[in-house]
Amino acid sequence: MIIKEFKEEKFKLVKPLYNYILDNYLLENPDLQILELGVGFYFEMALKLKQNNYNITVMDFNQEAVLNANYLGLDAFKDDLFNPNLKLYDSYDLMYSVRPPRDLQNDIARIAKLNDCNLIIQPLSNETALESLKPVCYNGKILCKL
Ligand SMILES: C[S@@+](CC[C@H](N)C(=O)[O-])C[C@H]1O[C@@H](n2cnc3c(N)ncnc32)[C@H](O)[C@@H]1O
Repeated sequence: MIIKEFKEEKFKLVKPLYNYILDNYLLENPDLQILELGVGFYFEMALKLKQNNYNITVMDFNQEAVLNANYLGLDAFKDDLFNPNLKLYDSYDLMYSVRPPRDLQNDIARIAKLNDCNLIIQPLSNETALESLKPVCYNGKILCKL
């Protein structure tokens, strides 16, 4: 599978997350370094940020996803969130993840905490938030933040 371009239709899934990040972080601090964790093959959020000149990097365990991200012009790296190379995460101000598996969410939260970094997770719509995260309702979507 290779994703070749941004699709506005697919972006709708993350529009509330995008607007939340814009309103709460980027309007005031447009130079923030942002990292998407577990991007998989869903690049719409990162591509929209890049189109608007924000500093976005994505990561995943899957090398194919990382190569696809590079193909789309995104900065990307491969790492295992269960056994992270912590040096890779220390230059970011804001992390987010879209629909990460629930068993990965504690590790994602741990990496953000260790780096004193803001974190927003958009869970699967039928999932409840991790107890350690705070649910926020924004434009009809439940997001979870540290
Ligand atoms: C449910 S998919 C979500 C992908 C994408 N964010 C989306 O919304 O379509 C979970 C993603 O997490 C990645 N992942 C799973 N385990 C991982 C790990 N240990 N470290 C980094 N990424 C991992 C998978 O490769 C996959 O791309």
